[in-house]
Amino acid sequence: MVSAARVELSIIVPTYNEAPNVAELVGRVERVLAEAGISGELIFVDDSSDDTPDVVRAVAARSGMPVRLLHRDRPSGGLGGAVLAGFELAASDWCLVMDGDLQHPPEIIPELFARASQGDADVVLASRYVGDGRADGLSSWVRTLVSKASTLVTKAMFPVRLRDCSDPMTGFFLVNRTAIDASSLQPRGFKILLEILARRQSRVAEVPFEFAERFGGESKASVLQGVHFLVQLGMLRFGRMSAFALIGALGAVANLALVFLLTLWGIEYVWAAIIAAELTIVGNFLLLEHFVFADMRASAGAFRSRLLKSFAFNNAEAAIRIPVVALMVESGHVSAVVATAVTLVVAFVIRFVFHSLVVYAPERAVASAAFAGRSRVENDAVLADPKVL
Ligand code: GDD
Ligand code: MN
Repeated sequence: MVSAARVELSIIVPTYNEAPNVAELVGRVERVLAEAGISGELIFVDDSSDDTPDVVRAVAARSGMPVRLLHRDRPSGGLGGAVLAGFELAASDWCLVMDGDLQHPPEIIPELFARASQGDADVVLASRYVGDGRADGLSSWVRTLVSKASTLVTKAMFPVRLRDCSDPMTGFFLVNRTAIDASSLQPRGFKILLEILARRQSRVAEVPFEFAERFGGESKASVLQGVHFLVQLGMLRFGRMSAFALIGALGAVANLALVFLLTLWGIEYVWAAIIAAELTIVGNFLLLEHFVFADMRASAGAFRSRLLKSFAFNNAEAAIRIPVVALMVESGHVSAVVATAVTLVVAFVIRFVFHSLVVYAPERAVASAAFAGRSRVENDAVLADPKVL
C-alpha cells in the first residue's frame, strides 16, 4: 500500500487504448517530480480494449515512483467516470488529472502544484486560453473553432461559476477532492472539469500551457462526445428537462424529414405520417435511454418494459392530442396554431413527467446510489504489485 502520508500529489490518467504512450508519460512524470522534489503517485484508470493494462504493469514494475492501475471491466461514465474513480482511489486529496497521450506536458506539473500550494484555490487548471497558453495541438481548424465557440457559449451560460476560468473544457487540472461534492457529479464523457466547476462555486486559479501534439495513438474525440457535451450543458443549466426537450426537438425535425422523404418516395401522406411518427417515437426512446436517463436505467424496470411504456404513452398522447386540438378549434375560441402550440407544450410536460416518474421509476435497489457502477473496486483488477499497492 502506498503510504498516504507520503504522497503529496496523486496524478490520475484516464486511458483508453494508449499503449504507445504509457512508457514516455511515466518516464517524463517521474523525472519532473524528482527534479521538483514532489512525492507523487500515478493512477491509470483504464477502460482499454488493447494491451494498455499490460504495458502499464510492465512500466510500473520498473518505475521509481508508485504507479497504480485500475482497469474497469464494466466502464461507466467514459473519461469523466474514470476520473471520478481515480479520485476515490487517490492517496492524496490533491488530485491532478491529465491525458495519457502527452498532449498535456508533464513539465508544468510543478507549476500547477506550486500554485495550489499557495492555498487560495480549490482548482488549478492548465489553460490553453490564458497568457502564453496555446491550443496548437488541436488536430484541425474545425476542432479549434468548435473548442473556442463552445468555450464562449459555456462561459456565457455560467457567467458567475466560470468567472475566473478561461478554459473550462481543459482536461488538465489539479483539484482538491475535499472541495468537490462527488455525489452531485454526473460524469458523461469528456468534460468532467466543467461538471465540477458548474455544480458548485470553486476558487479557481490558472496556469497557461501549450496543448501539444499527440505522442502516439489516436484521439477518441467523436461526434458522440459532442452530443454528450450538449446534453451535459443542458443538464447542468436547466436540469434533465432541457436535455429531454433537446432530444424531443431533434425528434420533431427527424419526423418532418421522414415525412418529406417518404412522400417523395410515393408513399401516401397518411401512411408516411404514421410511419414517420412511429419511427420517431422509437428513435426518441433510444436517445433518451442513452443520453437523458442513462443514470436511472440500472434501477428501473427491464428494457422491454421501458420501451413498451414509452411507446404506448406516445401513441396514446398523439391519439388524444389531435382530437383535443380539433375540439379547441371547433369551439371557435382559438386558432389552429395556438391550439396546436398549447397542446404540444402541455403534452411535452406530461411526457417528461411520465418518463421521469413512470418509465424510469426505480424498481431495483442499487448499491450505493452515488457511486453506482462508477468504480466498484471489487470488480476491478487493481494492480497487485506489492511495491505499489
Ligand atoms: N478511462 C477512459 N475511458 N479514458 C478515456 C476514455 C474512456 O472512455 N475516452 C478517452 N479516454 C482517455 C484517452 O485515452 C486520453 O488519455 C484522454 O482520455 C483524452 O482523450 P483523447 O482522445 O486524447 O481526447 P482529446 O485529445 O480529443 O481531448 C482532450 O482535449 C480536450 C480539449 O480540447 C481531453 O483532455 C478533453 O477532456 C479536452 O476537453
Ligand atoms: Mn488527446
